[in-house]
Amino acid sequence: MTGAARMIQMLPLCVLLVLQFLSDRLTTAEPATNTTVLDVTAVEYNFFDHNYHLMDKNNLTISGNKSLIVFVHGFRSSPRTGVVADLGKSLVQYTDSNVVLVDWSKWTQKLDYVDVVFRLPTVATYLVDWLYSLRDRGIVQSFDDVTLIGHSLGAQLIGYTGHRLNGTIKRVIALDPAQPNFKDSQKNERVDVNSAQFVMVLHTSTMFLGLREPVGHVDFYFNGGQIQPSCNSDTVCGHVVVLNYLADSLKNSNEFKAYRCQTLSDCEKKIVDNKEPTINMDIYMPNSTRGLYSIIPCKKNFRMYSRFFLH
Ligand SMILES: *[C@@H]1O[C@H](CO)[C@@H](O)[C@H](O)[C@H]1NC(C)=O
Ligand SMILES: *[C@@H]1O[C@H](CO)[C@@H](O)[C@H](O)[C@H]1NC(C)=O
Ligand SMILES: *[C@@H]1O[C@H](CO)[C@@H](O)[C@H](O)[C@H]1NC(C)=O
Ligand SMILES: *[C@@H]1O[C@H](CO)[C@@H](O)[C@H](O)[C@H]1NC(C)=O
Ligand SMILES: *[C@@H]1O[C@H](CO)[C@@H](O)[C@H](O)[C@H]1NC(C)=O
Repeated sequence: MTGAARMIQMLPLCVLLVLQFLSDRLTTAEPATNTTVLDVTAVEYNFFDHNYHLMDKNNLTISGNKSLIVFVHGFRSSPRTGVVADLGKSLVQYTDSNVVLVDWSKWTQKLDYVDVVFRLPTVATYLVDWLYSLRDRGIVQSFDDVTLIGHSLGAQLIGYTGHRLNGTIKRVIALDPAQPNFKDSQKNERVDVNSAQFVMVLHTSTMFLGLREPVGHVDFYFNGGQIQPSCNSDTVCGHVVVLNYLADSLKNSNEFKAYRCQTLSDCEKKIVDNKEPTINMDIYMPNSTRGLYSIIPCKKNFRMYSRFFLH
């Protein structure tokens, strides 16, 4: 672990204050950087085989009539970030799908947060064109074969991409969608129920970094949406641990028993409706699932996010 990462773990209060500051700044700032100088081809599509060997970065060698899972990382992250790679491996190992990890780190690592938000329509256009090209080349028969998974800013990006495809994508899974700049953002610019035929949202850090409001067909609030047991009060960890949660749900579909809660406030207070049946949170849950659910995750020793936000 790097020294900086250790410092972050030791100073959660400090981190909270910094995040609060960032969050205030982020929601008021204007884009500053002139991004037209960025390489416009700076989105890569990393396709992995069933041994998690990188097969291809651009012109995909995907074959077979399999469904496609596309994962899109968030701010200051990349497919090489430890927790992202762990989730990628789990997707390859535990699903019978072709798996692509989108790499748009040239955007998320060169630019300020607000600049990236400002440029989302451009990046969404790349994703849309790429998905159309997969369909035109018969790599997917239709968008009914495609599941998009995104984390944080990546969750907003796939939500927006889904709108651009008129909600024809089979399933969107939004992992703690980013809150700064999106709280009051117009619905077509972020993830919501029109992003796909079925939209499931996992909330793990609703205080600053993650969206508090329910925006999917089904919304899961882990530990009331705050202070994850494996992270204590470390908000950055709480925002990232959702990647570990999804990976765990792939390994064991009974890992996350979800209880119906009737309102957002109930979910936050972990007040659940015991008369309603429980469900298991996993990526294959029926597309007819609706409403708000509460999940109490166990405390675990997850791989830390040492490189996240730090490169
Ligand atoms: C941004 O950079 C490009 C290329 O360097 C330049 O042509 C353009 O005028 C710049 N735009 C602004 C608003 O500074
Ligand atoms: C992929 O590569 C093949 C062979 O190199 C080429 O003919 C084809 O046009 C490429 N397709 C795309 C979408 O880049
Ligand atoms: C995939 O399935 C479609 C429809 O069933 C079929 O036409 C096509 O040949 C199949 N492609 C491959 C590569 O198996
Ligand atoms: C979405 O709607 C636009 C405008 O009607 C249309 O051009 C485009 O082909 C549609 N895309 C899909 C995937 O349905
Ligand atoms: C839900 O899933 C079923 C079975 O896979 C499918 O037939 C149906 O079209 C889906 N409905 C929606 C709205 O996605």
